[in-house]
Amino acid sequence: MEENGFRSIGATTYLCPTPTVMLGCAADDGWKRGEGKPNLVTVAWAGICCTKPPMISIALRPERFSYGLIQHSGEFTVNLIGETLLAAMDFCGVKSGRDLDKFVELGLHPAEMEPLLIAPALLEAPACLCCKVRQVLPLGTHDLFIAEIVQVHVNEKYFRADGSIDEQAMQLVAYVHGKYRALGNELGFFGYSVASEDALKRRATVARKQTSKAAERKGQRTKDDTRKEKPGMMGHREASVNPRKNTKRLTIKADRQSSDKAKTMPDVASNHGQTAEMKDKEASRALKPSTRKRAQGKAAKRG
Ligand SMILES: Cc1cc2nc3c(=O)[nH]c(=O)nc-3n(C[C@H](O)[C@H](O)[C@H](O)COP(=O)(O)O)c2cc1C
Repeated sequence: MEENGFRSIGATTYLCPTPTVMLGCAADDGWKRGEGKPNLVTVAWAGICCTKPPMISIALRPERFSYGLIQHSGEFTVNLIGETLLAAMDFCGVKSGRDLDKFVELGLHPAEMEPLLIAPALLEAPACLCCKVRQVLPLGTHDLFIAEIVQVHVNEKYFRADGSIDEQAMQLVAYVHGKYRALGNELGFFGYSVASEDALKRRATVARKQTSKAAERKGQRTKDDTRKEKPGMMGHREASVNPRKNTKRLTIKADRQSSDKAKTMPDVASNHGQTAEMKDKEASRALKPSTRKRAQGKAAKRG
């Protein structure tokens, strides 16, 4: 152990969690006519890298069968993975399209997704990002494909009546140092640490309505339907004094009780399908004008 209480584990790829997704790719559009085979490949080294234009990066080893397909066609789809697709996702990460047709093997279906001409989407996925390759950067073991997200398609069944998207219902999975993990309860939303009590209440009310509508749809009633509205249910915030600087600071304490409760009220602090820009605005409304200016500056840099 080092003096500071940490232990070095070496210069390694220990960024977790990361998403784990399946890319859809193909050599040409023959699969649409039943000729040739489209492919699926699992990728965990993936991340958003630009807002405008929306860009994504994926790291692929040149020896992957998919590498040649994507390089040749200049297209791929990124298919989000819910728990029902977990085993298929793992399979597509250990078997090669050189040896078999993964769609056929798994009983899955390739789907045409506009505006792509060649790469198939995975029909069974909750959502699919259509991507066009803009740059390829050799890094070492992997090459980084930087691609523009030219369209996103979300399965109709994940839309709420108000048009927002219910990501909780997708049961998305994450990759954590060689293991797959379910996502836990929602703990807050973008900017919640600086949001006004009113904004928190509004969000909680919307979230509760959504939860109860979802429960009604399932023919269930949850205890949360009768829960009294309470601000700060997505985590407890408390002001404390920083003894070093003697300035007021905000600490965010995980409220054990409320996170236990959250287990019985999933989606209570739903993000209501807000974009980052909307969240920034909501958070910034709660601030003093001078602080708001600083926060807006930071948000602009982050975007
Ligand atoms: C969870 C998981 C994540 C993976 N992430 C990547 C990745 O980011 N980049 C990569 O090149 N291969 C990755 N792989 C390995 C490929 O998915 C695997 O070699 C696959 O069989 C290649 O298929 P293909 O030959 O049909 O392209 C991952 C595998 C798993 C199981």
